[in-house]
Amino acid sequence: MIKARIAASGSYVPETVLTNHDLEKKIDTSDEWILGRTGIRERRIASKDESTSDLAVKAARRALEAGGISAETLDLIIVATSMPDMFFPSTACIVQDKLGATGAAAFDLSAACSGFLYALSVGEQYIRSGTYQNVLVIGAEVMSRLTNWDDRRTCILFGDGAGAVLLSPSKSDRGIASVHLHSDGSLWDLICVPGGGSAIPPSEKVLLEQLNTIRMKGNETFKVAVRNLEEVALQALSADNLSASDIDWLIPHQANIRILKAVANRLKFPQEKMIINLDKYGNTSAASVPLAFDEAVRDGRINEGDTLLFLAFGGGLTWGASVVHY
Ligand code: COA
Repeated sequence: MIKARIAASGSYVPETVLTNHDLEKKIDTSDEWILGRTGIRERRIASKDESTSDLAVKAARRALEAGGISAETLDLIIVATSMPDMFFPSTACIVQDKLGATGAAAFDLSAACSGFLYALSVGEQYIRSGTYQNVLVIGAEVMSRLTNWDDRRTCILFGDGAGAVLLSPSKSDRGIASVHLHSDGSLWDLICVPGGGSAIPPSEKVLLEQLNTIRMKGNETFKVAVRNLEEVALQALSADNLSASDIDWLIPHQANIRILKAVANRLKFPQEKMIINLDKYGNTSAASVPLAFDEAVRDGRINEGDTLLFLAFGGGLTWGASVVHY
C-alpha cells in the first residue's frame, strides 16, 4: 500500500496582536491569571476584511511554494474549520477559486479543534488508495468571530490562524504511519456554539444572548482532554510498535499549557520535545496543529527523518493522534 507523506507545509497568522494586557482593559482579568491558568500571552485577530478563506489561502500558497507545485496540479482541497466564510458554498471551494486550483475537488470538514487530524486522515486515504497525487489539507479559523468578548472564561483562550500541509505519495516507507480518531457525541455540550444554525436559527434572542458564540464547560473539558489525549497517544504509539522515547517531536493541539504538561507527565514525555506556540497564538482550533508543525519545520526544529506524534482534542467531542515518519 502506498503511504502518504507530508511533502510541504505553510501557515499564516493575521498581523493584529491582542495581548493579555489589552484584555485587562476590556474585561475583569489579569495577565497573571491568564498566563498561569493557560500559558497564553497573546493571540492574533483577523482584520475586518479577512475571512477564514483569506487566512487559508495565505497558508496554502506558502505550502505550495515550499512544495514547488502549482495550484493547478492539486487534486483535492480539504478545509477543516469551525468558522467557514458562510454556510455554503464550502470555504474549500472559495479557497479553490482564490488559488486557481481549477482541477481540484474541494470540501470542508467539521471536527472543531480536531479538524486538522480528521482532514489529514481523509486526505491520507485518497493517497493510499492511489486516487489522488496532491492533496492540500488546511486548518483555518477566525475564532475571534465565534468569541463572546464579554465572557472572560472563554474569550482569553482563542485566536485566529491557518496552517496547511501538502500530501503526496511516498516513494519510501516513510510517511503517515497511522491516524486514530475518536468521537463522543454524548459530550457535545462541553464546547459548542448553540445558536445560529438549524437548531436555534438566527434571531434577535440569539444575538442578545450571544448564542452564536462559544459556550464551554472549562473544568470538565480539561479533565476529559487530558485523559483522552493520553489514551489516543498510547494507541497511536502501540499501533506502530513505538514507545514515547521513539518520538522526536510531539505536535499537540494548543489549548492550554496545563493540559499539555499533564499529558506529557502521564506519557513520561519530555516537555522540551513538544512544539508549543500557544503563548503567541492561543487556541486556533483546527489551525493549531498545522501552524505549530509548519513553524517548527521552518525554524529547523523538525527535520526529515524525524518521528512525529500529532495529537488533537476538541468539540464534538472529538480527538485523535497520528504517528508520522517525516
Ligand atoms: N480572569 C480572571 N478570573 C477568571 C477568568 C479570567 N479570564 N476566568 C475565570 N475566572 C475565575 C472564575 O470566575 C472563577 O472564580 P470564582 O471561583 O470566584 O467563581 C475562577 O477564576 C476559577 O474558574 P474556573 O473556570 O474553575 O477556572 P479553571 O481553573 O478551570 O480555568 C480554563 C479555566 C478555561 C482556563 C480551564 O478550565 C481550561 O483551560 N479548560 C479547558 C478548556 C479548553 O482547552 N477548551 C478547548 C478545548 S479544544
